[in-house]
Amino acid sequence: MQNVLSESPFGAGGFAGSLTGQDKGRTNLPPGTGASGGATTVTRTIADIRARMEACAKDGVLVGLVPTMGFFHEGHLSLMRAARPECTLVVVSIFVNPIQFGAGEDFNTYPRDFDRDFEMAAAAGADIIFAPAAAELYPDAFDTMVVPGNLAEGLCGAARPGHFRGIATVVAKLFNIVRPGIAYFGQKDAQQVAVIRHMARDLNYNVGIRVCPTVREPDGLAMSSRNIYLSKDERSQASVLYEALLEAKAAASAGQTSAAGIRRQIKRKIASQYLADLEYVGIVSPDTLEPVSEIKAEVLAAVAAKFGRARLIDSMTLSPGGDNA
Ligand code: PAJ
Repeated sequence: MQNVLSESPFGAGGFAGSLTGQDKGRTNLPPGTGASGGATTVTRTIADIRARMEACAKDGVLVGLVPTMGFFHEGHLSLMRAARPECTLVVVSIFVNPIQFGAGEDFNTYPRDFDRDFEMAAAAGADIIFAPAAAELYPDAFDTMVVPGNLAEGLCGAARPGHFRGIATVVAKLFNIVRPGIAYFGQKDAQQVAVIRHMARDLNYNVGIRVCPTVREPDGLAMSSRNIYLSKDERSQASVLYEALLEAKAAASAGQTSAAGIRRQIKRKIASQYLADLEYVGIVSPDTLEPVSEIKAEVLAAVAAKFGRARLIDSMTLSPGGDNA
């Protein structure tokens, strides 16, 4: 059962006093116990989580933040499991952020299952789940956005104007509210990682950004909350994104240096599945996300395609091989 709100910064029945030096240095805490050795708790207000976090700051507690939109799968859990041994307190936010969805996108139908998420996050070692209502983060007359620059222009940014502005804004708010020492993100959303890394640097957030590898289904499909939209046939064809990226990686390491050639190869492969509706293939610099024409150093190959109503993205780094290695 979940405890909603409590007096202690660590939650109901949790830690009541200051952490000892030994506690602060503890690593490899068993899943579900957290810093408090107590239950995972839920908080829904900024005032409550702020109070808890201020108590943590006084005690020098290292706080890890895992921002999510919920409907957990192993990808989300991998971030929590990475945070657990590194941080004394692990905060997981669950918030389907309306401002990062465009008109006609799936905000209303985005899958939500708080009780299931709670159980999964608790088992993965989350101490606090911050799950505010939309009006808590965006009260009436909310009017200020964090607007990323060039990094948000291409790839997903081209098809989803305002998407990364919505992400940068909510992540900035979460950083300000929770004030984590470390925040955890998945490489699966490579452009999001680039935007947030730069935002943290450009706006002087005192937070370490940890990026965890993409977790995949056995056939290679990147895990995503949106995979639930896939019909049986769409699901079986959707692994073509991974296969196409894998073939591109092999071609680059075999000496193919033409980005145009690799793009053509990826497009052809994806087109071989008739349910795939390709949106983009980008071969870009992993840092600037600018398109590259020749693969002389590590590049990011990024793809987006629709399968029915599921818009899926994936990416992989390609390294030059052959004479370029
Ligand atoms: P969401 O899609 O719920 O993802 C939350 C975090 O889990 C992100 O950092 C994402 O990259 C990571 N993740 C998703 N699928 C993954 C996978 N298969 N392997 C590894 N990590 C994966 O991304 C968002 O939410 C939102 O944009 C958010 C950052 C929370 C802002 O609203």
